Amino acid sequence: PLLSQCYNLHDFEAVARRIMKRTAWGYYSSAADDEITMRENHSAFHRIWFRPQILVNVETIDFSTTMLGTKCSIPFYVTATALGKLGNPEGEVVLTRAAHKHDIIQMIPTLASCSFDEIVDARQGDQVQWLQLYVNKDREITKRIVQHAERRGCKGLFITVDAPQLGRREKDMRSKFTDPGSNVQSGQETDTTQGAARAISTFIDPSLSWDDIPWFRSITDMPIILKGVQRVEDVLRAIDVGVQGVVLSNHGGRQLDFARSGVEVLAETMPVLRERGLDRRIEVFVDGGVRRATDIIKCLCLGAKGVGIGRPFLYAMSAYGQEGVERAFQLLKDEMEMNMRLIGAASIADLHPGLLDTRALFSH
Ligand code: FNR
Repeated sequence: PLLSQCYNLHDFEAVARRIMKRTAWGYYSSAADDEITMRENHSAFHRIWFRPQILVNVETIDFSTTMLGTKCSIPFYVTATALGKLGNPEGEVVLTRAAHKHDIIQMIPTLASCSFDEIVDARQGDQVQWLQLYVNKDREITKRIVQHAERRGCKGLFITVDAPQLGRREKDMRSKFTDPGSNVQSGQETDTTQGAARAISTFIDPSLSWDDIPWFRSITDMPIILKGVQRVEDVLRAIDVGVQGVVLSNHGGRQLDFARSGVEVLAETMPVLRERGLDRRIEVFVDGGVRRATDIIKCLCLGAKGVGIGRPFLYAMSAYGQEGVERAFQLLKDEMEMNMRLIGAASIADLHPGLLDTRALFSH
């Protein structure tokens, strides 16, 4: 199908499924065990309804915002996804170039196919990038990666905390993985019989704990955000240890099956933070299953600062390259403008919990 026939983010997935190589499709689309959490991530949004307000002047809509103190055109970012070259020979720099065109923030994965410097070098103007970090058992390596990222201008350090061991993704395991020239820095023999994910992740430190967080604070001035928080108790603890943000996420359903969706955890978390006067102490992000601007708007109404989107951009990149990713961004912007207008919100500041009916969210 022609790119112009992709009318929403789901369409890119349908095309990618048909044209991608088996290994690449297996790695990108797979999730843990029975993939219940992956499906739930998107379907949780179907249990939140709108209470639009009428007769508000919505002639001009402005959905630009800030995340971690930097401006961006729309409140979503391209989240970190490993192994970009499985889907496109140029890899992650395709996402970088598209993100620049649309003034959208990109999170660079530790396990990118391109080298970190290639992805930073692809940056243009005052484009903003963040670093996703898998913490190495060798803390000297981790320290080098973090301080290099800061020197190269990264504006946020997202420490992944939901992957002490990589989840078991059977679709990925069934396809024979051969390394497409990745920047994998484990320094160890890789066992490719367990699929792409397991093959590249043996360096990750399962002993990482809350006690390590002050050390990260001591080696960098970048804002620190914990990616993969899944309960309100841990959000409170994150505030206590003084990090700047959390991503409520279950890793796109790729880690613990039967983890709850990020948006459900968000709906539980924000009232607790507000009650304790803590909601301005930390920026709360969400990812998982965001496919429509209405999904983004729901998260913002609940109190999120921004949302991450993963697979749809990999599919767009794999099927149509940079042009595909740019179209995916534009489709979300078009949806965003229309739906904010229909809800009766002219700017991000106008989004609030009163615009939602969340009764069905917890009563299924
Ligand atoms: C991921 N994700 C991820 N997260 C992370 O912290 N480090 C990583 O290397 C990766 N790699 C990765 C690869 C692929 C192929 C996918 C699909 C996902 C998780 C990612 O950042 C994010 O949490 C989810 O992708 C969000 O869900 P959606 O938007 O894909 O549904």
